[in-house]
Amino acid sequence: MKKVILITGCCGQVGSQIYNHLVLHQKAKVIASDIKLSANEFRIYEQVNVLDYQSILGVVRRHEVTEIYHLAAILSSAGENDIERAWKTNINGLLNILNICRDEKVSKLFFPSSIAVFGGEIKNKIAKQTQVLTPTTMYGVSKAAGENLCNYYFHKFAVDVRSIRYPGIIGPQLNIGGGTTDYAVEIFHSALGSGKFSCFLSADTILPMIYIEDAIKATVNIMQAPTKNIKIRTSYNLAGFSFSPQMISAEIKKIIPEFVINYAPDHRQAIADSWPRYINDEEAKKDWNWSHSYNLQLMVETIIDEIKSYDYQNSNIA
Ligand code: SER
Repeated sequence: MKKVILITGCCGQVGSQIYNHLVLHQKAKVIASDIKLSANEFRIYEQVNVLDYQSILGVVRRHEVTEIYHLAAILSSAGENDIERAWKTNINGLLNILNICRDEKVSKLFFPSSIAVFGGEIKNKIAKQTQVLTPTTMYGVSKAAGENLCNYYFHKFAVDVRSIRYPGIIGPQLNIGGGTTDYAVEIFHSALGSGKFSCFLSADTILPMIYIEDAIKATVNIMQAPTKNIKIRTSYNLAGFSFSPQMISAEIKKIIPEFVINYAPDHRQAIADSWPRYINDEEAKKDWNWSHSYNLQLMVETIIDEIKSYDYQNSNIA
């Protein structure tokens, strides 16, 4: 059977990179979808609101979709501005997708969870796989419920759903929005632009992060792992490395010495403070051989090079 992959939320930070990876590396027809009316950067694009069951069903039937990467979601900070919208998009959207996987010939589903499922008392600020989940944001609440929904659909209806609790994902592209870890993407564009950055988290706020290439590698690896290796059907803890705004700005200053950062913590500080600083990802390592490749220094060097070459290409086109 021909592999046909549907990605929801394809215009976002993760969706756009997964799309590029799958198009380059898999023998599959890849269908991009998002709530946006149109998006020219994709070969096949379908406008889909994940809350509209009939329209997703139509896309899945028309293209005979066999796998879904369900990335459409409202993130932590944006979710707090409209908690009903966050709950509906993140939960009803997932339920639509799970029902379609159960009822149509969709053999595998990827669902991204997040470090936002953690909150409250976390011993030594290191989140274990079995940590009790008491999230402090609607995003976290919906992801924790979503993980359980996935686990339920796996056991009750044999939907082969696989999930990762993503740390903050950092990459060169600016197509981010509404996250508490977004500062660590914005900082590069400010450093290379005005040379100044006002950070919405305090200098010493350490959070678990990952370079986007590693996040994509983890996503593809868990989707390709043999079914018997996937022992956790809620969601796997995943770690890259942890850093604070001060630590990343020190790395940036090694390359851009004149870079200046100041700190003006806002409502996102409380969200960050409720999250773990470190993630224990033993199970992902053991079950499907996970390991990350990037550390802070390599990530900073890579992102700065990428943004510079992107600007260079753009200025050539202009
Ligand atoms: N990056 C997400 C956020 O900040 C966490 O998963 O909301």
